[in-house]
Amino acid sequence: MNEIETQLQEEQQAGLASLERVADPQALDTWKQTHLGKTSLVMTTYGKMGTFSKEERPLIGRAVNAVKVALEAALAEKEEVIKHEALLSSMASEKLDVTLPGFLPRRGRLHPINLTMREVFRIFGDMGFQVYSSPEVETDDMNFTYLNIPPYHPARDMWDTFYTEDEGVVLRTHTSPGQIRSMREYYPNPVRVILPGACMRYEQQDQSHEIEFMQFELLVVDKGVTFAHMKGTLDDFTKRMFGASAYTRLRPSHFPFTEPSAELDMACIFCGGSGCGVCHGTGWIELGGCGMVHPRVLEYGGYDPEIYSGFAAGVGIDRTTLLRYHIDDIRYLRNNDIRFLEQF
Ligand code: PHE
Repeated sequence: MNEIETQLQEEQQAGLASLERVADPQALDTWKQTHLGKTSLVMTTYGKMGTFSKEERPLIGRAVNAVKVALEAALAEKEEVIKHEALLSSMASEKLDVTLPGFLPRRGRLHPINLTMREVFRIFGDMGFQVYSSPEVETDDMNFTYLNIPPYHPARDMWDTFYTEDEGVVLRTHTSPGQIRSMREYYPNPVRVILPGACMRYEQQDQSHEIEFMQFELLVVDKGVTFAHMKGTLDDFTKRMFGASAYTRLRPSHFPFTEPSAELDMACIFCGGSGCGVCHGTGWIELGGCGMVHPRVLEYGGYDPEIYSGFAAGVGIDRTTLLRYHIDDIRYLRNNDIRFLEQF
């Protein structure tokens, strides 16, 4: 046995012996540095391998491997022991009162717009409508052309539009493009859907205008659908939403995609129709637009206007939410103030 092998054997004995005396994590660390670190005999011997003769090399190699394996095994065992002891001592010194009450998770709640939306779904669900969702980013054709608003027609100015950098792609300005999408999907069956969702308009924001707002579209297409069906459905909706004393009127209006067209007004629920600040003294609050689906729009949807007729409406959900909860500024709905949201 040569000198190096002897040294290695002594190192193993010394290492194992000193490991016996290690009792805490810091001492274990120091031990690791000394016996298995960069400057330890084991590691420096590996580094010097090239300086040994061809005959010595396998012998020394085997010897140093054996020492390393022995030291590492002892170290792993010691680590377990120390970990276990640390756990025992912390259990002995720290008291845990399992009878203390826990922390209740904070409960989230639905946004008032969603509450209103769910109520809208419930009401129209009772009337036999289905909810149909359609994209918020639309083609110019769906948002305008197929709704009887051809390119460059001044009627497009009724909507302040966000155009995207992609030619022919817009953020939808209303839920009406869903009329075309749902008709094309349902054809030739009758259509009775509501289409809820976000719409975007490039607008000056104030107390009652936001660039983003929610709307739901109402669409019925079938044989023999009349204006009276529309009036009855809309009036019934407001009664179910705002109470039996709510009543509505239809005011003549114009939309390129309905003929005839009307604005849906509800008697002001704050003053009962006598005139107040909310209704600007008129006694009426505007809920949305409506009308009989224009023959050309029916055609774009695939339905023969000689056989089918239909009605459509677009009602503001934000507006409805303000009325339902007596909120006086539309901007509260989206500025994420927890003091506002907690009230619902
Ligand atoms: N899309 C119209 C708007 O947002 C509302 C509307 C819908 C009018 C359906 C008539 C029929 O202004």
